[in-house]
Formats: sequence, C-alpha cells, structure tokens
Amino acid sequence: MIMQDRMTVTSQQQLAKAIFEIKLSGKLVGEITSPGQFVHIRVSDSFEPLLRRPISIASINREAGEMTLIYRAEGRGTSLLSQKRVGDEVDVLGPLGNGFSVDETAAGETAILIGGGIGVPPLYELSKQLTAKGVNCIHVLGFQSDDVVFYEEEFKALGETYIVTVDGSKGTKGFVTNVMTELPTELATYYSCGPMPMLDAVQKMYEGKKGFLSFEQRMGCGIGACFACVCQTTEETDKAYIKVCSDGPVFPAGVVAI
Ligand SMILES: Cc1cc2nc3c(=O)[nH]c(=O)nc-3n(C[C@H](O)[C@H](O)[C@H](O)COP(=O)(O)OP(=O)(O)OC[C@H]3O[C@@H](n4cnc5c(N)ncnc54)[C@H](O)[C@@H]3O)c2cc1C
Ligand code: FES
Repeated sequence: MIMQDRMTVTSQQQLAKAIFEIKLSGKLVGEITSPGQFVHIRVSDSFEPLLRRPISIASINREAGEMTLIYRAEGRGTSLLSQKRVGDEVDVLGPLGNGFSVDETAAGETAILIGGGIGVPPLYELSKQLTAKGVNCIHVLGFQSDDVVFYEEEFKALGETYIVTVDGSKGTKGFVTNVMTELPTELATYYSCGPMPMLDAVQKMYEGKKGFLSFEQRMGCGIGACFACVCQTTEETDKAYIKVCSDGPVFPAGVVAI
C-alpha cells in the first residue's frame, strides 16, 4: 500500500564526491514489496521546491523498520536533502512503482547486474535478495571517475564485482559494456539501472536474453496521475505508452522505446 509517512532520519553520511547515504525509519518500510521500488521525497516543509524528488530504495532493514537511500546532491532538492540531520523528519510518499522480480532467476543460476552512476543503488537490495536465495550475482558498476565510486565493498561481499570508470581512474577504463564482453555468456537473467544510453547498449549486447531495465524518467506526481513520466513503447507490447512511475520503473527488456 502506498502511504505518506513522516520518516525520521537515523543516519546521513557522505560516501563519495556529492554522493550521500541517508537512512530513514518509519512505517512505510513495512510496505516495500520488491527491490527497485522508489520513494518520492518532499525535501522541504515549505512550497519551495514544490515537487517531490524520486529516489530508489537501496536497501531495506525490516527488523529495524529502516530503509537506505543513496543519492547525488546535485540540484536544489537533493542539496536540501543532504542538509537533513539525524532526528529530522522527512515527508516521504511510497513505496512507489513496480520493482525487480527476484523470482525471474532460480537458485544456482547466474544473474548479471549492471548499474550506472545513481542507477547503482537499487541493484544493491536486488543483489542481497538474489544472493540470499542462492543466485550467483555478478555486478558491473559504471561511474564517471574514482571520486564518485560508492558501495564497492558492499557489492563485493555479495559476489564478483567489476568497477568501470569513464576516465579510467579506477577499475576498467570506459563503459560497462567493455567489461560485459568478458563475462560468462550462460547467464539466466540480467538486471540494469542507469542512464538511457547505457540501458540501450546493455539491451543490445544481451539481445535475446531475459533482462529487466529500470528507467529514471523525470517525474511530477509519482503515482500515475500527471503523465509527466510517459514513455513510448515498442511493438513488443500492446500498450501505446507506459508511465514509468506506476507501470515501472522496471520493465522487461524490449518494452520501452529507448
Ligand atoms: C524511479 C527513479 C529513481 C531514482 N533513484 C535515484 C537514486 O537512487 N539516487 C539518485 O541520486 N537519483 C535518483 N533518481 C534521480 C533523481 O530523482 C534526480 O536526480 C533528482 O530528482 C534531481 O533533483 P534535484 O533537486 O537534485 O535537481 P533539480 O534540477 O532541482 O530537479 C528539478 C526537477 O527535475 C526532476 N529531475 C531532475 N533530474 C531527474 C532525473 N534524472 N530523474 C527524474 N527526475 C529528475 C526533479 O524531480 C525535479 O522535479 C531517480 C529518479 C527516478 C525517476
Ligand atoms: S510522474 Fe505523474 S504520471 Fe508518472
């Protein structure tokens, strides 16, 4: 059930250049059903900025009633979010959208998880849930440069992890696809989240394989009412368009026209 919760900040720390990790506790955590869902955050109690900001759920701790978000403090909204301190309350709407299905990969099979920049966070909870059921997860994480890399150790603790940077300051130089050519071809499933050009390249490279892509479209309402996040579909679906917020953000590969 989608709810509006005043969640309490239990931790806020900077992980890398302009990259922050915030932990929030509240009843909303009990409503999260799948990795890849997101929340819509009102970063200020005033009307400025007016619109909420969509941020993926990076990790869930049900026992503690706590969720972790990782975000890049970039524009006005996310910069205000980075100023929240432990004990502050934040107005959160969620959980929103349909996330990644862990049922698509069976125990003993291999899944390849490919993330780019701020598309990496939702893959962390996905990997935790897949590895817990016995799936062999391989992670390919792409960043601009060494100073914005985050969660390398966390992903390594779950499975084989490759870091790729555009400028070559850490890991393999180039794009995620440079590493993907070296990976096992007998994967059962691939899951990806990141910028559109990356999703396009990943989808083309794994053509014919079972894959799921998460899209980060600009959003207004986050609940399917405003049409801000509408995308065109391909002929592989009978819908003329889809709403990323309520039909997605995760779609099977081939459904969204990139
Ligand atoms: C489903 C989903 C999950 C996301 N998960 C994450 C995450 O885990 N971590 C993270 O750092 N970022 C994530 N983003 C992107 C994040 O929402 C934007 O970077 C953020 O809203 C920008 O806000 P701002 O205040 O920094 O920028 P501003 O420029 O002040 O924002 C202006 C407006 O544009 C919208 N906007 C700007 N960039 C984007 C974008 N790339 N996607 C969607 N809306 C945008 C904002 O919501 C706002 O309404 C996600 C986006 C979506 C749609
Ligand atoms: S953001 Fe309003 S319909 Fe998707």
